[in-house]
Amino acid sequence: MDDLIGTVDDTARWVAHHRATESARPDALFHDPFAARLAGAEGAAIAEGAAPAAGGGDGWYLTARTVLIDEAVAAAIADGCDTVVNLGAGLDARPYRLDLPADLEWIEVDLPAILEHKAAVLAAETPRCRLRRVPLDLAGDGLADLLAGLADRRILVLSEGLVMYLSPDEADALADVLRAAGVHRWCLDLSSAGVGSVMAERNRGILHRAPWRFLPADGVAHFEDRGWAADRIDSLFVAALELGRLDSPEAHRLAAGPQPDPRAPGDAPWSGVVTLAPAR
Ligand SMILES: C[S@@+](CC[C@H](N)C(=O)[O-])C[C@H]1O[C@@H](n2cnc3c(N)ncnc32)[C@H](O)[C@@H]1O
Repeated sequence: MDDLIGTVDDTARWVAHHRATESARPDALFHDPFAARLAGAEGAAIAEGAAPAAGGGDGWYLTARTVLIDEAVAAAIADGCDTVVNLGAGLDARPYRLDLPADLEWIEVDLPAILEHKAAVLAAETPRCRLRRVPLDLAGDGLADLLAGLADRRILVLSEGLVMYLSPDEADALADVLRAAGVHRWCLDLSSAGVGSVMAERNRGILHRAPWRFLPADGVAHFEDRGWAADRIDSLFVAALELGRLDSPEAHRLAAGPQPDPRAPGDAPWSGVVTLAPAR
């Protein structure tokens, strides 16, 4: 079990498997025709080892996250963004599956091995916009230089399933680099410690080599205190219920009660997709 995820980039195969599963549903909320190939048998094995489909799995929140971030991309493009920088892009295939302006530049940043795997699998496919891949360890320096080369652009930064794998210091440094670069919007997903401990326990050690480390008790306020303003905040739990991907009596019972404060979740289980803008 422990070695299904050997390094953090294997987590990309896990979430790609869930996009493939959603895409195969007759009532799919998005279609990612590349996800199954990108995830491979490893992705399916990780997903089943992490949280068996029979027990509810991880699909509900990963589907909700995908839908919400697809919406954030569309909103940013409508708002004039001409560049998307996807940090920890993993096996995300949005440049191939979304309806994008052909002159948009989409830059995917991740660790080298996963980007090489992706480039090999998608070698015969054509992205719908200009696409560039940049191998980079986001725990180190390098991002500021990449962004400095994009100084005249209106940039949407995505980080989907990334910040929880960073240390608190690395996550803060990332927030500061993006703020200093003056990006137009930053759309990320964020989880509280309550979700982190559920994941660590339920996934039975599978995240042992890729632990979730950045789980701020002050949630969205953590970024508001660092010069960001929240444009939009969506709870993944609420979104999954609204989208019909959670439908148990227990989920409806919980939804009827008070929800954790996204700006102070503490140890309560809360995770969401947040779009941030630099505060004026
Ligand atoms: C859970 S996956 C999410 C991938 C993709 N964003 C998605 O939603 O399908 C996490 C991704 O973050 C990347 N990642 C984690 N730590 C990183 C780091 N220090 N530098 C670059 N990428 C990193 C992993 O390689 C992996 O592709």
